[in-house]
Amino acid sequence: MQMRHVFRWWFASKLPSQEDDEVGGWFLRFFIEKILRRRARYYAQKHSLPFLIWKFIRKFLNVVVAPCIPFNCLRIAVYRIVGYPIGKNVFIGMRCYLDDTHPELISFEDNVVLSYSIVFAAHGPTRDGFANTPIVIRKGGYVGCAAVLLGGAVVGEGAVVAAGAVVTKEVPAGATVAGVPARVIASASLKEKES
Ligand SMILES: CC(C)(COP(=O)(O)OP(=O)(O)OC[C@H]1O[C@@H](n2cnc3c(N)ncnc32)[C@H](O)[C@@H]1OP(=O)(O)O)[C@@H](O)C(=O)NCCC(=O)NCCS
Repeated sequence: MQMRHVFRWWFASKLPSQEDDEVGGWFLRFFIEKILRRRARYYAQKHSLPFLIWKFIRKFLNVVVAPCIPFNCLRIAVYRIVGYPIGKNVFIGMRCYLDDTHPELISFEDNVVLSYSIVFAAHGPTRDGFANTPIVIRKGGYVGCAAVLLGGAVVGEGAVVAAGAVVTKEVPAGATVAGVPARVIASASLKEKES
């Protein structure tokens, strides 16, 4: 038995079960399947070496590269490589921080506009223990500069999040929320009445 067989056996014993299987984005899958010519499902699991390397590259792209690119289309391309599900015609401002521990948890639908320096934090402690909770910006949603969106924040269709707001839960479609924590300052029905 060669050393690499022993290492592979030892390494396999460290891997989590299939339920914990985690493939971080199409770039990692492409790298593993097409370049390394290995099965992505096995090698892209949480504690495998390719995944740990990919995590490092992902962090670098996400935190250092993407927020400083002065062209929206290139920023979006990099965020897609990192693994965020991003719809069509989306604008993501510079200097945003998107939680990169679980990119698949943060998704932006079509025609979303995200202003500058927004923080998306999908993981962290809650009163019930540690949680990874999705953040979703639905079609046509707008998020003002320096807002903070925590796990569980779902910005409804056409809703507006004010600058500096801290969103912790669902924002109804068409509503405007502001403050810390974010509260509705204008609802869709009120806006219709006013117009
Ligand atoms: C939320 C927003 C869209 C509301 O605009 P508006 O309809 O003109 O609202 P108003 O200025 O009439 O303010 C309405 C109320 O909301 C409050 N409010 C407005 N923006 C707020 C904010 N960011 N945080 C907390 N409260 C806010 C106002 O104080 C006012 O309260 P009052 O009725 O008690 O006096 C706007 O203030 C905003 O934040 N836009 C995003 C700007 C941005 O991020 N641009 C990106 C540049 S890079």
